[in-house]
Amino acid sequence: MAAIDWDSLGFDAYRTRTLILSHYVNGEWSPIKVTEDFFFTLDPFAQMNHYAISCFEGLKAFRQKDGRVAIFRPDQNAARLQRTADYLGMPCPDKEMFFKMCEECIRNNMEFLPPYGHKASMYLRPLLIGVHPQMQLVPYPEAIFAVMCAPVGSYYGEHLKSFAGVVPGNYDRAAPKGSGSYKIGANYACTFKPYKIAHEQGYTELLYLNSATREYVDEFGSSNFFGIKGNKYVTPLSDSVLPSITNKTLQEVAADFGMEVEKRPIPVDELDEFEEAGACGTAVVITPMSHIDMKPVLEEDKVDRTFRFMPDGVVGPVCTKLYNRITGIQFGELEDTHGWCHYVEGL
Ligand code: PLP
Ligand code: COI
Repeated sequence: MAAIDWDSLGFDAYRTRTLILSHYVNGEWSPIKVTEDFFFTLDPFAQMNHYAISCFEGLKAFRQKDGRVAIFRPDQNAARLQRTADYLGMPCPDKEMFFKMCEECIRNNMEFLPPYGHKASMYLRPLLIGVHPQMQLVPYPEAIFAVMCAPVGSYYGEHLKSFAGVVPGNYDRAAPKGSGSYKIGANYACTFKPYKIAHEQGYTELLYLNSATREYVDEFGSSNFFGIKGNKYVTPLSDSVLPSITNKTLQEVAADFGMEVEKRPIPVDELDEFEEAGACGTAVVITPMSHIDMKPVLEEDKVDRTFRFMPDGVVGPVCTKLYNRITGIQFGELEDTHGWCHYVEGL
């Protein structure tokens, strides 16, 4: 295997050594299989192929300063997968099985776990897919649960750098009372076209508004939104955004810093009032926004409004402080007073 340049990792699908699998059929999960074969055979009628019966999780494992290996808040991911699987009517591994397969994936791919000191980590991608061949729109208790991993660096190519976002006025992500708060593949499918257009126009992120009235901020295509106003950390309360574990963590970190935390609807006009704003999530960690343009039609040139957060492109002090605290805990440089790190025994 060619040596990995840990400092230049991006965020890509990666062929590691093994994949960890289990198949739920006839009312039970099969024994966990560790395989070097990365391809599944699926019936063309499988539920996931037609009806998008597919959901996933994303979490990171870190080689810490003292040499231990920590997974960040996996209990939260196990619980969120359960909630998503219920929504799709799928069987779901319990917390114990979820932990076991994530740990097994790390143990079997140790050569891909970035060493301490490179701002890189191992991303774990648990995937749950409906594999029963079927035409009817009804759930069926059969699924494959797989955990794969990839060594990752920065999602956008550079850590703690600011990027531009755009509100794609003529595209929505999630319907009111729809699937927006679940981590299902279909919520991402609808972002591919607007992302392509936005990227061609030089924007990095899409900021979606609530689709019912387009008056409030929902979230980015890949991550949650937060804004900083004086001593306040403000983040949207909405039924159609993913309950982000990073956002939840940052709210606790902000409170630890003595900041006020407000989780409430954020009217679009209020974007003008934030001194700093950014995206947060497992993949993007904290990614500050330099500005967000609001376009009525993404394909056209017209920009209705521009909200600027970081004059001169300088990353703000609060984003920097939050980023340093969360990554400091993840890499074991700062004390984990909340007990967020789950240590993998024997590594
Ligand atoms: N929102 C969306 C749409 C996401 O895909 C993600 C990523 O998982 C998040 C928010 C952030 O969630 P988390 O912090 O749990 O990774
Ligand atoms: C994550 O942050 O874990 C995600 O799943 C987001 C995805 C766009 C990479």
